[in-house]
Amino acid sequence: MLTFIVINSILLAIALLLVIAEKFLVTYGECSVILNGDKTFNVMGGESVLAYLNQHKLFIPSACGGKATCGFCKLKVLSGGGNILPTEEVYVTKQESKEGYRLACQVKVKKDVNIYIPEYLLGAQEYESVASEIIQLTHDINILKLKILGDKKIKFLPGQYVQFKIPGTDEYRAYSVASSPDNTDYVELIIRLVPGGLCSTYVHKVLETGEKVIFTGPFGDFYLREETDTDIVAIGGGAGMAPIRSILYYLASRGMKRKFYYFFGARTAQDLFFTKELKEVEKEFPNFKYIPAIQDPEPKDNWEGEVGFVTQAAEKFLDKTSKKTAYLCGPPPMIDAAVTVLARKNIQPEDIHYDKF
Ligand SMILES: Cc1cc2nc3c(=O)[nH]c(=O)nc-3n(C[C@H](O)[C@H](O)[C@H](O)COP(=O)(O)OP(=O)(O)OC[C@H]3O[C@@H](n4cnc5c(N)ncnc54)[C@H](O)[C@@H]3O)c2cc1C
Ligand code: FES
Repeated sequence: MLTFIVINSILLAIALLLVIAEKFLVTYGECSVILNGDKTFNVMGGESVLAYLNQHKLFIPSACGGKATCGFCKLKVLSGGGNILPTEEVYVTKQESKEGYRLACQVKVKKDVNIYIPEYLLGAQEYESVASEIIQLTHDINILKLKILGDKKIKFLPGQYVQFKIPGTDEYRAYSVASSPDNTDYVELIIRLVPGGLCSTYVHKVLETGEKVIFTGPFGDFYLREETDTDIVAIGGGAGMAPIRSILYYLASRGMKRKFYYFFGARTAQDLFFTKELKEVEKEFPNFKYIPAIQDPEPKDNWEGEVGFVTQAAEKFLDKTSKKTAYLCGPPPMIDAAVTVLARKNIQPEDIHYDKF
């Protein structure tokens, strides 16, 4: 037994030494990252393809900031990427792997690498902004307004997200834009404090108005589909309010021609926010209906609205007749439950769009 422990410890120590040696001692010299056959970046090897793209101001979706936990930074490596890593296998199917797909954050550049990224993914830009307003909405949610500096304007689709660069690091986190795309010189983000979370703690506890913030974007395929005039169903909770609010104000400024049911779930009355604002929109546009649901109302809340899960409210209010497109945003269990309810309401899977976070 003792021999087994000693051998294991030695092997572990060797593995650790190899990792440290690779990080600090191994140099790969000058390598080229060749993009779409026509752009070449000469780099000193050793970092990930994602890092070199960012250094050259090319921003592809990378919501987890390079930790191989979002799978968003998928691209095609035509040559020079080496073998796929176990960390990538969760996000890259066997078929995709055969076709050369990899996670850009996991492909370390050790020699010349040829990559392909479709043009539509290369539209994101970097914005320098100033935190012009920070308002606490609930005990763990705030709204942050980032005013873009200079003459640059941002163009995005309602529902898309941007990536916030955590100052002093090379890490980014994804936040859905909560303001309407009609406002092109600022974005508003609704940020929930995640205990122990790097970026959300920074925004809640450190960031002050007047400080500079860099963000990139826009990104994402969760956005309002305008090629249809179906009714809209939105179901959300927590910071999942953000993209739905952007969609709502975009439609409101165009006269709210489609019926729009918005179900928002919270645990207690104290977790609700923007109620007054949304009730105002409801008054102005009869097509819009805001239905908040609370799981645990307390007597002091005098709550007269829906009680229980937000999905129960959706089950109760939605009919099966009109054709609907659904937009869901919130924690994964809520989205999964909502998809089941919407299927019972005859909403087709291809008409259900969601962002889970
Ligand atoms: C498309 C998209 C849109 C999003 N939009 C929004 C939005 O509008 N609003 C919003 O609030 N969020 C949004 N998110 C989530 C957001 O991107 C971040 O994931 C979230 O804010 C947490 O980031 P963080 O840096 O605070 O936490 P992280 O530092 O990334 O930590 C995440 C978790 O890991 C734990 N952890 C961290 N470090 C350690 C460690 N060393 N050991 C063990 N555990 C650890 C933390 O406790 C936490 O539970 C979105 C995500 C996606 C993918
Ligand atoms: S998997 Fe998230 S950035 Fe690569």
